[in-house]
Amino acid sequence: MGVDVLDFVAMRLSGPRPGDLHLQRFSVPFEYPVIFEGGALEPESSALAWAIARREPERRHPFCAVLDEGLLRATPGLDERVRRYAERHADVLELRSDPIRVPGGEAAKGDPALIGALHAAFAKARLDRQAVVLVIGGGAVLDAVGYAASSVHRGLRVVRMPSTVLSQCDGGVGVKTSVNAFSSKNFLGSFAPPYAVVNDRTLLATLPLREARAGMAEAVKVALIRDAAFFEWLSENATALAEARPEPLLSLVRRAALLHLEHIANAGDPFELGSARPLDYGHWSAHRLEIASGHELRHGEAVAIGMLLDARYAERSG
Ligand SMILES: NC(=O)c1ccc[n+]([C@@H]2O[C@H](COP(=O)([O-])OP(=O)(O)OC[C@H]3O[C@@H](n4cnc5c(N)ncnc54)[C@H](O)[C@@H]3O)[C@@H](O)[C@H]2O)c1
Ligand SMILES: [Zn+2]
Repeated sequence: MGVDVLDFVAMRLSGPRPGDLHLQRFSVPFEYPVIFEGGALEPESSALAWAIARREPERRHPFCAVLDEGLLRATPGLDERVRRYAERHADVLELRSDPIRVPGGEAAKGDPALIGALHAAFAKARLDRQAVVLVIGGGAVLDAVGYAASSVHRGLRVVRMPSTVLSQCDGGVGVKTSVNAFSSKNFLGSFAPPYAVVNDRTLLATLPLREARAGMAEAVKVALIRDAAFFEWLSENATALAEARPEPLLSLVRRAALLHLEHIANAGDPFELGSARPLDYGHWSAHRLEIASGHELRHGEAVAIGMLLDARYAERSG
């Protein structure tokens, strides 16, 4: 059962109150589109341009693109495709720099110098708060670039194109950014909802099987906390999913993404002020396992082990 954010704040104010008290209270609605699109970087696809320009279609939108180097290695020419896309949609898009490359995977979250380098690149490109950072990559790159962007002018517009199963069904559609520090996973971070998300299934074609399987753990997690029928479906399709067959994989990504979104919007605690944090099921041990393995364990693999530990613990403790 979720706790409404305002109720949560009010709860903290219970007990004797100071006599001269003004209670400041306001809420800001958040809204971002999550678009499921195949071939979003093909020049003729308008989804990405729409996502960036939708609020002010009459002007050009300055943007920088940041690309995951692991993805780029698997998809040579991706930087050129971003350039061509910007040219084709030059009525609304203005690419302000060459696409910026960042190391893929946990390396992106473990190097403080990278955050500084991104800040410098955004400054050089003269991005203001109405400008956009387009980030294309796995969950780690999305987390690190989102964190850097959230502190420039107190928050640039970030448009995400997640490129892994995990990030398309979980982190990429959510509201959090982070990097690792002081031997602690996600020690630095911010709540920074994206400006838009484009989930492009064609990006998953090059993903190694191990990464695809690991990412499915977050789908199992959200099924366990929110949707028994989805859990049944996952069990029934386990063999095809373990081979990452495109059709069931796409259903998994879509359903898991929508469940995550639904949870964030409607469970009453989008910015995790309370301590329940059901989306972190299996994660307390997962984060420690990731660190202890020197990030040899993928995040999804660690979550799978963490859920097993929690389930066994729950069973044994009755
Ligand atoms: N912000 C959130 O809410 C949230 C939620 C869940 C997980 N996360 C974070 O996400 C991270 C894990 O992300 P992940 O599982 O997406 O993996 P990842 O970002 O670690 O990427 C794994 C590897 O795949 C490469 N890669 C990415 N896309 C590729 C593609 N299409 N083809 C080939 N290679 C590709 C990367 O370069 C990297 O080497 C963890 O740091 C975790 O903490 C964040
Ligand atoms: Zn996770």
